[in-house]
Amino acid sequence: MKVICTEKSQVLGTRIARALKTSVIDVTYSRFPDGEHYLQTGEIDDEMVIVGSVVDSDSLVQLMLLVDACDRATNHLVLPYMAYARQDKRFRQGEPVSSRVVTRALSQGVADVITVNIHEKEVLKSFTVPAQNLSLAEGISSYIGTLQLANPLILAPDEGARAFAEQVAIGGGWDRDHLEKIRLSGAEVRMAPRELSAQSRSVVIVDDIISTGGTIATAAGMLYQQGAKDVFAACVHGVFTGGAFVRLMAKGIRDVICSDTIERSCSRVSAADQIAGALIRQ
Ligand code: R5P
Repeated sequence: MKVICTEKSQVLGTRIARALKTSVIDVTYSRFPDGEHYLQTGEIDDEMVIVGSVVDSDSLVQLMLLVDACDRATNHLVLPYMAYARQDKRFRQGEPVSSRVVTRALSQGVADVITVNIHEKEVLKSFTVPAQNLSLAEGISSYIGTLQLANPLILAPDEGARAFAEQVAIGGGWDRDHLEKIRLSGAEVRMAPRELSAQSRSVVIVDDIISTGGTIATAAGMLYQQGAKDVFAACVHGVFTGGAFVRLMAKGIRDVICSDTIERSCSRVSAADQIAGALIRQ
């Protein structure tokens, strides 16, 4: 079994290979003058682990090309972050179910799929091959533990993030709650923990994805107004679109923690060991 990875997942791919005690096959990536992607792999093994987060449309195309280049092997697809997973329904008439388009495309040429904290588990059902989802709650918990915060409060920013934030909190034996939006007037909204007070506490807001950072930035400002000592933000997938990281820091967030499902300089938690373990078990 050998590992191969897309350009955007080189670090995680290499870590997975190390955990599996195998090597990474070299790939040359380039583009044609018209912008089309091109790639050429080194010698492929009979069994391949293909690692590639879909972070944008280019990385999706690159991943599909990579799977095709490995078409003589038995391929295990590792999809650490899957963009388009949030469009998992036809919310309005005329919309595509984008998640289904991606899962169907990526089911071609692979034997099975591993995802990490996919935004909606139902999406797994639209792969046409067996798919399993791993959770990095334990890794995020362990990292928060290293911060040695006194009695931190783990907060989910919304209903959708509650289950994940709860797993993180249970891992460290910490208090947990979720933010509630209270509409004060037509234009004014207050966000506060539903049951517990943030007063004088270190608060860690935990979500699966930080994209624009809008929700967390607003929440952080309000938590400081409510007397929070420090506010941290932790997520699995650090998308950080449109200057989100800077916006969060500007709100006084002490630190932003994410994993290497999307490779960032604040990727403090690695998904590699868990992915390698799942590959060994399957
Ligand atoms: C949405 O349901 C996700 O779980 C995240 O809460 C969301 O993607 C975060 O978005 P943003 O960073 O843009 O507020």
